Amino acid sequence: ALRRADNIHWQHMDIDRAARARIKGQSPACLWFTGLSGSGKSTVANLVEKRLFALGRHTYLLDGDNVRHGLNRDLGFTDEDRVENIRRVAEVAKLMVDAGLIVLVSFISPFREERRMARELFAPGEFHEVFVDTPLAVCEARDVKGLYAKARAGGIRNFTGIDSPYEVPESPELHLRGGDQSPEQLAEQVIEELLRAQ
Ligand code: PPS
Repeated sequence: ALRRADNIHWQHMDIDRAARARIKGQSPACLWFTGLSGSGKSTVANLVEKRLFALGRHTYLLDGDNVRHGLNRDLGFTDEDRVENIRRVAEVAKLMVDAGLIVLVSFISPFREERRMARELFAPGEFHEVFVDTPLAVCEARDVKGLYAKARAGGIRNFTGIDSPYEVPESPELHLRGGDQSPEQLAEQVIEELLRAQ
């Protein structure tokens, strides 16, 4: 239903993903961070990327706030727009993994169905769902951007955790307890998960 064009054929290219991965000397992967606003997704993803970079890995970090300034600037926070937001980002992540990168994706990505769709774009073992499980009360107490206060006061509609749902992952590859540990400890667990799989 999403494909509007007919008469489109898949063009075969001789340089394939395996060749691109080989030249990079790494196993491409997608680390998909999901969690509430203020859960620490971006902080942890940023630390993980720094660690990987120091290990000589070629990475790219796709972050909700940033992608929404460019590629997805036409999208808001209705259910429909979030679905499209995640669909585009998953496709971009797939292209980057195809290009040989280790891609970190940091979006609330509140719906199970879209996270499942994202997972299905990747080869087995390539996709790691990382649930940054920080209780709403903790995110709200942090309120780094002041958005929870604004949402509680009725100034923002469809705010995740307030009047828009967050569907908790059922079987993520990694479950991080965001409220109890430091970002550094959480990042360490992500690195271990990734290296274990490689
Ligand atoms: S989603 O649900 O995956 O499409 O969201 P995402 O693209 O990750 O964008 C989340 C960031 O946008 C800010 N923001 C909101 N979040 C949730 N609900 C509403 N209504 C909203 N409006 C703005 C917020 O700063 C989120 O940033 P993070 O980094 O998650 O805190």
